[in-house]
Amino acid sequence: MEQTNQNATVERKKRILSGIQPSGTPTLGNYIGAMRNWKLLEDQYDCLYMIADLHAITVRQEPAKLRAQSMQMLSLLLAIGLDPEKNVLFFQSHVHQHAEMGWLLNCFTYMGEMSRMTQFKDKSAKHAENINCGLFTYPVLMAGDILLYQANLVPVGADQTQHLEICRDIATRFNALYSGVFTIPEGYSPKVGGRVLSLQDPRKKMSKSDPEDCFISILDTPDVVRRKYRRAVTDSEAEIRFDPENKPGVSNLLSILCALTGEQMETLTASFEGKGYGALKDAVTEATVQTLTPIQERFNQYMADKAYLESVYRQGAERAGRIAERTLSKAMRKIGFVAK
Ligand code: TRP
Repeated sequence: MEQTNQNATVERKKRILSGIQPSGTPTLGNYIGAMRNWKLLEDQYDCLYMIADLHAITVRQEPAKLRAQSMQMLSLLLAIGLDPEKNVLFFQSHVHQHAEMGWLLNCFTYMGEMSRMTQFKDKSAKHAENINCGLFTYPVLMAGDILLYQANLVPVGADQTQHLEICRDIATRFNALYSGVFTIPEGYSPKVGGRVLSLQDPRKKMSKSDPEDCFISILDTPDVVRRKYRRAVTDSEAEIRFDPENKPGVSNLLSILCALTGEQMETLTASFEGKGYGALKDAVTEATVQTLTPIQERFNQYMADKAYLESVYRQGAERAGRIAERTLSKAMRKIGFVAK
């Protein structure tokens, strides 16, 4: 037993890096699909979670709101149970190497590659009054985020896979020119997941940029949760059956319930035999409130303890900065800058 433990510590753990923009409160979908898995990774991997505030300013931000949302995001990471000793939690803007690496990599990325990014096309359509260069080169900054830490794995949702792909391309190109600077990262999909769909239009993903009634926020109170599920779209039948094709609304509620209770779908649907949609909505409300309440309690405690939050993000930036500096200075040396 001892032996295995020792061997396990000698072997370097794989490194995971992920970034979360501090733009509004995550949804129940973000929680089920991504965030709750992070806690499960902290022993097996060497994990860094970065609050991507530099990315956030690619769209206009109100200063006080950006600051508040950044602190909220940090509190939420702690509230979902991430241990700040085991995970490096930090603000991107506190580690200056991100901006610097972003510049370097800009010079190894082609305009044509960036023009193909679907998120740029979507976002520039949405923010037609502010199509700035940062929005355009956003994937380059993100590539730097990942490469600075020599991350092996990057948990990303479907909307970010194109950015991860371009990161791999940039890293491969750079390595071909200068050899052995960057680890080529791979995507990481959690084993347990579940795609949570909009409560009003269950053909698309639950998203916080849709109207209020479409999503449950992690910080929604029990009353709000209940009201949103009550209004959730179902169908005109009365049968509770998992059939995403023909019954997307009901199936979405069933998947959420499954994800939150850990029950098998068959067991769950069987337990609803002869019952109406009201019973399903009550059950999913109950399960959601039970999941969110303890998170919200911890969130409030962290939010009230500024000194603690400060110690967490300072320590995070220090640890992250040390790793990032190693990669940045290596890249700079390889490019041919005179050493300091
Ligand atoms: N672009 C990501 C998003 O909008 C956030 C992000 C920034 C990120 N840097 C990252 C994700 C690095 C993974 C790795 O969701």
